[in-house]
Amino acid sequence: MSDVTQPSPTDTAKPLSEGTAQILDHNYDGIQEYDNPLPGWWKALFLGSILFSVAYLTLFTGEPFSIAHEYEREHAELLTRAASADLLAGITNESLSALAQDAEAMQAAKTKYLAVCASCHGEAGQGTIGPNLTDDHWIHCKEVTDIYLTIYQGVEAKGMIAWGKSLKPEEIQLLTAYVHSLRGSNPANPRAPQGEKTEF
Ligand code: HEC
Repeated sequence: MSDVTQPSPTDTAKPLSEGTAQILDHNYDGIQEYDNPLPGWWKALFLGSILFSVAYLTLFTGEPFSIAHEYEREHAELLTRAASADLLAGITNESLSALAQDAEAMQAAKTKYLAVCASCHGEAGQGTIGPNLTDDHWIHCKEVTDIYLTIYQGVEAKGMIAWGKSLKPEEIQLLTAYVHSLRGSNPANPRAPQGEKTEF
């Protein structure tokens, strides 16, 4: 052992530099160990990565940002869009508006409306249990085909029946055209507007 490279036993507890670097007490056949603190940047990185993992786990594996949740939502949206496109095969805003001009068809539609829809939407569409269908505020509809889709698919959680299960597509087209024709008719005792003001 040469004194040039090995500190003598009495040196071992002394700081080696201005900082806090120290040599630990033990000595294994001349091999000694520094007791330096970890650098600040290293500790910050270590703590930072733990905090990041906690935040990441909380935000992205639970609601509302989880990837599985996001996937479910987008998948459901695509299915709804595909189903709507299927339901609307051949039915357009124009075909429904044209039907609304057909007085004879609208007479038949009114009879059907009074039989199945008036109990909730009022005889004149003014709204009772269900919303007013004559004003310019709509919860689910931005165009005429949306009226068709809403009647067909219903909003079962909110009490609107999915009429596609019990009425034929032709009957739903007639009812859609009839609802379309009721708009702007200003019946007595209207129910207050619901949803967004929507021009179509
Ligand atoms: C049992 C009561 C009930 C019956 C019967 C009913 N509806 Fe509804 N309807 C509702 C309710 C409640 C809503 C509102 C749903 C919501 O708040 O999301 C609604 C919503 C609608 C909407 C969408 C309104 C909007 O603002 O977007 C249309 C269109 C509609 N109904 C048409 C009809 C037609 C046509 C019939 C007859 C075939 C009918 N409804 C029968 C209860 C009913």
